[in-house]
Amino acid sequence: MTQSLLLQSTAPRIVDEDGSFRTRMLEIAAGLDNVIALGRGDPDFHTPAHVVEAAKAALDDNQHHYTGPTGLPQLRQAICDNLRAEYGLDYTADEIIVTAGVQESIMLCMLGLVQAGDEVLITSPRFTTYDTAVHLCGGIPVPVPTYQKDDFALDVAEIEKRITPKTRMFVMVSPNNPTGAVTPPDVIRQIADLAVRHDILVIADEIYAKLIYPPHEHLSLATLPGMKERTITLNGFSKTYAMTGWRVGYMAAPADFVEKLTEPRHTLSINTCTISQFAALAALTGPQDEMEATFRAYAERRAYLMSALSEAGLSYGAPGGAFYIYTNISATGMKAKPFCENLLRETGVMVFPGDMFGEPDSDFIRISYLQPLPVIEEAMARIKGFIASHAGAAA
Ligand SMILES: Cc1ncc(COP(=O)(O)O)c(C=O)c1O
Repeated sequence: MTQSLLLQSTAPRIVDEDGSFRTRMLEIAAGLDNVIALGRGDPDFHTPAHVVEAAKAALDDNQHHYTGPTGLPQLRQAICDNLRAEYGLDYTADEIIVTAGVQESIMLCMLGLVQAGDEVLITSPRFTTYDTAVHLCGGIPVPVPTYQKDDFALDVAEIEKRITPKTRMFVMVSPNNPTGAVTPPDVIRQIADLAVRHDILVIADEIYAKLIYPPHEHLSLATLPGMKERTITLNGFSKTYAMTGWRVGYMAAPADFVEKLTEPRHTLSINTCTISQFAALAALTGPQDEMEATFRAYAERRAYLMSALSEAGLSYGAPGGAFYIYTNISATGMKAKPFCENLLRETGVMVFPGDMFGEPDSDFIRISYLQPLPVIEEAMARIKGFIASHAGAAA
């Protein structure tokens, strides 16, 4: 088939990234009526009622207009207060840009810092938006692998051996998606030391930092000596407050850099939806008890799944945070893509293959525990039945 003129004219910065498997899974799911979705990272809880009320009040109060490109001043201040109280981070309001989810912050960071040929190290397996954003800026994503034997925790030696004269920055996602791995504080300190020694910049994506299961601990990289000047801290509302659809996230970085990025940020989308910014403000400043209950529910689901998977003969990297379990299915004799596709077709349970998180990774699936516990129990029963019915078939 001949290509359209526009396709022929596509700029080389648009590289082919294969989303066909995800599309196929969603199409299959659309044709089924018994689907248990444990695929996407979208909480099953709804946004707390007082947050929704704040958005309605903003509408009634005629907050229908643009805000400044970096966000509502009172939201930027509330973000600083929250970062200080939760993580000991020292930012002022002029060091915050509110964006359409962390997603837009990721693109803005890369636009601001990556030049053609720059190498960007990324914790892997990974949230592949980073690859796309780096490619769009002419850079080269360089995966830093983590391993099941370490519960997918980062190893500084793995970062260091990939540093070259072209290394521009390191992207640290802790807790990580898809593994739930939390980088321990002592390793974070080593990463800080490494970044200073090799003069590299760091993006600390802390979108899951509120979702940490004891005894795991979070340490924000930008709290360490010498790190604030070379770090961009990313965080947002999607995961913590079940606000994926509202599209609010932010980046925190030194004020002069924020000022420099203000025009590019204006160019991307002028400002984050005004109503959503009022909702985010209510999320930060209002009662937190509903969120605490949500975290307890995630902890309960995690504990159940860890023992149920072990009982089913499947191993995994024990997740220290987030709401994912990166599960090794090699014991079934099946590869991840056919495992996921057949599991969906035969049982209605949707999980995603490791191959969707960077490199081909046919031994792993990501299970998101974003359904009520009884539904997860039903999903596990179906998964066990599926494995039993295929036992020996793939050997
Ligand atoms: C590691 C990580 N960063 C950023 C995002 C983007 O989140 P949002 O744009 O909804 O804030 C996600 C979403 O899954 C994620 O997993």
